[in-house]
Order: sequence, then structure tokens, then C-alpha cells
Amino acid sequence: MTARTIDRLYPAVATPEGQGVTVHRSIGRPDLSVLDPFLLLDEMVLPKDAKGAGFPEHPHRGFETVTYMLSGRMEHGDRVGNHGVIGPGDAQWMTAGRGIIHSEMPVASDEDVRGFQLWVNLPAAQKMIPPRYQDVSRDEIPTVKGEGFNAQLVAGSLLGEEGAVKDIAARPFFADITLTSDADVTLPVDAGHTAFLYGIQGDIIVGGEAVPARTLAVLSDGDHVNVRGKAGTRFLMIAGKPNNEPVARYGPFVMNTREEIMATIDDWNKGRFLSAS
Ligand code: FE2
Repeated sequence: MTARTIDRLYPAVATPEGQGVTVHRSIGRPDLSVLDPFLLLDEMVLPKDAKGAGFPEHPHRGFETVTYMLSGRMEHGDRVGNHGVIGPGDAQWMTAGRGIIHSEMPVASDEDVRGFQLWVNLPAAQKMIPPRYQDVSRDEIPTVKGEGFNAQLVAGSLLGEEGAVKDIAARPFFADITLTSDADVTLPVDAGHTAFLYGIQGDIIVGGEAVPARTLAVLSDGDHVNVRGKAGTRFLMIAGKPNNEPVARYGPFVMNTREEIMATIDDWNKGRFLSAS
């Protein structure tokens, strides 16, 4: 039994993205461009009065985008007719595979839109699979009650329960965890998988070190992590199997080689993005 500790803290960096949006980026920036298999983590905050702000039509290829909402609602639609709205506690795990072209825009309401977008890489053998959506509403996401915590289990297994999202190459763990007491809490993590915590509310203490809100803590290897904090402290815990493959990246396209990126840009420029295989 090896306890994971904090390797390094990365306070999120305010970064302009999409159309008039400021995201708080922790993965996908110069000093943490990849945390294999994770390519990007943005905390999105769209003030309710930010008219027209959002993520108008754009493509993706070669990886998966995960949206998890804390407040407000986002509407998404793609070129082949998929469409939906996700609200607080809902998740969308979208496997872009060989390509999608979609938009993600806030639904006007009296609430700020707040949520996360995580990019999970696909292994070489799956980069060109057909696109797939797993939309899971908060009612479908199990609440796992452990000693000292409640976890909304989006993906992975915890205390014998299975998360709502299934069959993802990275065998991910994705949970939104709230501490329910001031006591020490032990959370299992698969040894050998990349794992991190991201603070939402309050300070999480790991090995005497505090992880504040809007900060990502990369964890060392091990099979569990011990955390502590005041009741009500809330954070994401995310883990996944590294691909250990080269990453070639150009904006919303993530492949293994420069040649594959050039071919992707060619498909995009020649209007055959959605029909390419
Ligand atoms: Fe997108």
C-alpha cells in the first residue's frame, strides 16, 4: 500500500478561449502541456450577462472531450444532428474519434455558467474511430457514500460502484467529491495511472500540503491518497491510464505524428473532415 503525495501544484491560469470566454486552465498550458493521457483541463466561467460568449462551431479529432457542469446550462449541437442541453451535475463524454464539428453555447438564464472541460487522449489505434456521445444526467450518476465523503461518480469504480460513463480507452476515474467530516479520508486510485486533484471549494490537505480551490495537484504514483479538509470541501479527483505515445497537437486536433496532423488539416481545409476515415 503506497500513499500518493503531491508532486506539484498548478494554480489555474486565466486564458482567453472560444468567443469572449475566459477559462482557468490547468492542463494544456506551456508548463503542463500534457499530463498523459490528459491534454487539457479548463474551468469555464461564463457570467450570465456575457452576451454571445461561448464556443461557436469548431472541430475536434483524435481525442475525447468531457464536459461536467457545476451551474448554469450549456447547449451543444453538431453537424450531423446530435443536440442537447446539459445542466448542473450533468456530464457529457464525447469521443471525437475521426472527427466532429460542434458548438457549445450557454443557455441564457439568471445563473452564471460554471463547469469543466477535460480532454482525454485516445490511443493511436482508436484515434480514427467513429464519434460517440455518452450524455449522462445527474440522476444517472451514482452518489457513492464513503467514510467522510460523498462522491458523484462520473466514471470508474469506487467502493464497488461503477460510474455512469463506460468503455473508455483510458479506463478513467472521474469523481466530484465532497467531504462530509473533518476526518481523514482514504480514496483508492489505480496504481500506475496518472492522477490529479482539482480544488472546487475549500482547501484539500494532502500530506500536510494544501490544495486550494482552482488549483490542480498532480499526484505521485501509489494505490491510494489520503485527504483531509473541512466538511464541505469539494474537489475533482481524476485518473487515467497513460498512453505513453508521442503527441502531435495542433489546436483541436491531437494525433501521434506531424504527418497525421498535416493530413487532418488537409481534410479540414478540403471540406472532407466528417467523411474522412
Ligand atoms: Fe468542443
